[in-house]
Amino acid sequence: MKDINRRKVILDVDTGSDDAVALLLAILSERFDILGITVCWGNSDVETCTSNTLQVVDLLGSDIPVYQGCPEPMVRHLSRGRVFNNAPNRTSIVKNGKEYKTHPGTLPIPPATSLKQSLHACSFLVETIKNSPEKITLIPTAPLTNMGMALRMDPSIAENVEEIVLMGGAVGTGNASACAEANFFHDPEAAKIVIDSGIKIRIVPLNATRSAGLYREDAARLIALGTAAGKLAGDLVNMRSDASDVMQTRGGKGEPIHDALAVAWLLDEGVITEAREEKCDVDINGGACDGQMIVDTRLGYEHAPNATVAYKADRQRFMEILCEHLSKGPKA
Ligand code: BDR
Ligand code: CA
Repeated sequence: MKDINRRKVILDVDTGSDDAVALLLAILSERFDILGITVCWGNSDVETCTSNTLQVVDLLGSDIPVYQGCPEPMVRHLSRGRVFNNAPNRTSIVKNGKEYKTHPGTLPIPPATSLKQSLHACSFLVETIKNSPEKITLIPTAPLTNMGMALRMDPSIAENVEEIVLMGGAVGTGNASACAEANFFHDPEAAKIVIDSGIKIRIVPLNATRSAGLYREDAARLIALGTAAGKLAGDLVNMRSDASDVMQTRGGKGEPIHDALAVAWLLDEGVITEAREEKCDVDINGGACDGQMIVDTRLGYEHAPNATVAYKADRQRFMEILCEHLSKGPKA
């Protein structure tokens, strides 16, 4: 039975370790009516991301439908020079014969038994948003290919979107390249379509997620909750921490669980402690700044803001939100 007071949401994921934690949080929250989960390519090929998503849904005994979406970016892979001009994202490394990964190929939980829907994710997005009697909130934590495609298929859906709360972008240091974050870098055109859509947007860039990194003590606390959700989240925090330690990508700080912070912001406004309304853009020119998020902070210029950008988060509060929600559901 759907509760009409719950916020109607669609998550768009590329599961993925941090997407898995975002899904656990969203599914276990009583505040959302999740109409469906759409899956994009990104952390892995779209088939793997879809089966990982189904694994999480099954782990919680949920029947939320999962729709597979785009296997490639809108146009990026057509211009080969772009792909090779930029330093690749470091998400795995081999040391002393052992491979360390930020994202597992398959999640360390039982294989999925439920099946994806036959409808394509973009068709689901268009039909569902268009026909919903109530505005829908979109939570993309993946390259924005599905979102960009849906907006190209039917731009009028923008009118029925309450807001988009997305994880992506970086103001300053990137991860997929020196200046670009992975979700924007992997499909810059789609990111630009979304940002230029006129829809109310909240952006959770690397600035915010890196300010709320989790530590091994946090992982232990999640596992000690005794639930399947807590165990998976804790194991994934540890797995990501192992990989980052070997790759030395964290500079001694906690491990960001990027995607879960976007969901947490919807559940508790106070988890973001610094956010500003700003005019954002995305570079799509294929050079060294391809996929970079640009924020126009010049004084004396007229630039109407098109997004609210989060810069800092409260990591203790983030942990409280995770513990509160991941203590629910099946036992470990
Ligand atoms: C983002 O890229 C992906 O690898 C993560 O799942 C997250 O959505 C972080 O840059
Ligand atoms: Ca993701």
